[in-house]
Amino acid sequence: MLEHATGVAATARQDTIMTAASGGIPLSIQQVSKQFTTRAGLLTALESTSIEVAAGEFVCLLGPSGCGKSTLLSIIAGLDQPSGGLVAAAGQPISGPGTDRVLLFQEAALFPWLDVQHNVEFGLRQRGVSRKERAVIAHGLIERVHLQGFERSFVHQLSGGMRQRVAIARALALNPAVLLMDEPFGALDALTRDRLHSELEEIWSATHKTIVFVTHNVREAVALGDRVLVFSPRPGRIIADFRIELPRPRSLDDLALAAQAAQITATLRAAMGDDLNTRR
Ligand SMILES: Nc1ncnc2c1ncn2[C@@H]1O[C@H](COP(=O)(O)OP(=O)(O)OP(=O)(O)O)[C@@H](O)[C@H]1O
Ligand SMILES: [Mg+2]
Repeated sequence: MLEHATGVAATARQDTIMTAASGGIPLSIQQVSKQFTTRAGLLTALESTSIEVAAGEFVCLLGPSGCGKSTLLSIIAGLDQPSGGLVAAAGQPISGPGTDRVLLFQEAALFPWLDVQHNVEFGLRQRGVSRKERAVIAHGLIERVHLQGFERSFVHQLSGGMRQRVAIARALALNPAVLLMDEPFGALDALTRDRLHSELEEIWSATHKTIVFVTHNVREAVALGDRVLVFSPRPGRIIADFRIELPRPRSLDDLALAAQAAQITATLRAAMGDDLNTRR
């Protein structure tokens, strides 16, 4: 009975975790720039960039390789400092990493010595959440990313898509307000990618987290984003901010989606063409 009661309490807590009450926070990126000192001298990765992201907004970043997208995500994550400007989360300047913001990469950085369940539980354990409660929360999240039955599998026994699902569940376990996703589906085949789009959209609709999502895939950006921001070649700066009004859930095969993607691709091509012309 006690066990049941604890389970109910933990489930209730997990329900709270996954509802709007613990949704996203706004991000304010104000004139952020970044220079790196390299052997060849000073390299400007990012020019003065300003972005306002509303709480619960899904923003996709698109831009040529090397334009500073990952650099910007690292700065928002607090893993790197801007050379100029300011980033604030929920009105508070970011001065370092925090559990309100989680960064996910193309290669799901999972612990190979832990099984799926223990990977998902990892952050909760660090926080001192009891074993029983951890198990209940992990169970809910594993279900949410459709990995029931794989709780005891190790990382090497999972496909790329499954690994990314575990990484998402592990990130959600910490209940961050912001998910920063750096080409998370870049290494996956088209069908798996498509599936994960739907799953991520479902998670986002249920949790209202703020998502900043970097991709090279224009259709992916249009399928997922409330907004798609296009960067110029390095040094990166925002050259276009598209608001995507298409109804959800969206299909990659939808003609309106394809038309919007074509428009964005043209903007990207023009920016890259300009870059090539100035380099000639
Ligand atoms: N720690 C670093 N030291 C020096 N230069 C760096 C560092 N990190 C990034 N850069 C440089 O900054 C520029 C932007 O890099 P960044 O990784 O942000 O690009 P990106 O837009 O994410 O590219 P991609 O689409 O290929 O992932 C690149 O020229 C890169 O070489
Ligand atoms: Mg990158």
